[in-house]
Amino acid sequence: MQLEPLDKATLPKHIAIIMDGNGRWAKERGQDRIYGHHEGVLSVREVVSVAGEIGIEYLTLYAFSTENWNRPKAEVDALMELLVATIRQEVDELNRRNVRLHVIGDFAALPQLCQQEMQEAIDLTNKNNGLNLILALSYSAKWEMINAIKSIAQQALDGKINPNEISDELFHQHLCTHQFPDPELMIRTSGECRISNFLLYQLAYSELYFTPIHWPDFRREQFLHAIANYQQRERRFGKTSEQIQPSEHAPK
Ligand code: IPE
Ligand code: IPE
Ligand code: MG
Repeated sequence: MQLEPLDKATLPKHIAIIMDGNGRWAKERGQDRIYGHHEGVLSVREVVSVAGEIGIEYLTLYAFSTENWNRPKAEVDALMELLVATIRQEVDELNRRNVRLHVIGDFAALPQLCQQEMQEAIDLTNKNNGLNLILALSYSAKWEMINAIKSIAQQALDGKINPNEISDELFHQHLCTHQFPDPELMIRTSGECRISNFLLYQLAYSELYFTPIHWPDFRREQFLHAIANYQQRERRFGKTSEQIQPSEHAPK
């Protein structure tokens, strides 16, 4: 497929992806679900490299949700092992590509070894100033928002803030994503059209892109296609089209 060149001026700064469909992709091939997760890592590598190349500043990948702890133990264990092995293997490549790694989610819930490896990779890449790669691990938006509410309530109790001062900005400062802008584009693979507890607050005005392609088949071309699709949309933020594009609608 021939892709139109992307317009650099309207590239999203932040893209968030729900990487879904590894299990079904593997089953369709008569393989174990874990095989799908392994193949999914190749898509992660490719999407990270393309994002860096074209100048995306933030890429958030939903890798493991709070709810995913309820999967069969063998699958959870395999996913945690894969995470450790992948991060060990990829950290040099991340540095070569000037990628800075971040993790959002309930870090303490991850197995000890996983925490150590992730922390090491975060530290080893923290001088990089290219793409910010944000892995959502043991993450759920409800968990994140409840924590934010608890910490704001505590500050109010301690007399540090007045409840009347609670604003969008203040709430944002208490989310795991406080250092990052909200995603302009959220992509979900595998045909499911739901948010599955991902960035509920931050996605309030994101453009949503759903594709039937399973994650292991989501590569460079599909990623660029999603961005090109985003670039054709008009983001109105409650205004009218005429306010957004005044010249187009002006009387001749
Ligand atoms: C996404 O693929 C990866 C994780 C949630 C860890 P799935 O494992 O959800 O694959 P499907 O949706 O069952 O096909
Ligand atoms: C969402 O995928 C979580 C991740 C991609 C990590 P799931 O496969 O867990 O989502 P549901 O349960 O089908 O909505
Ligand atoms: Mg799934």
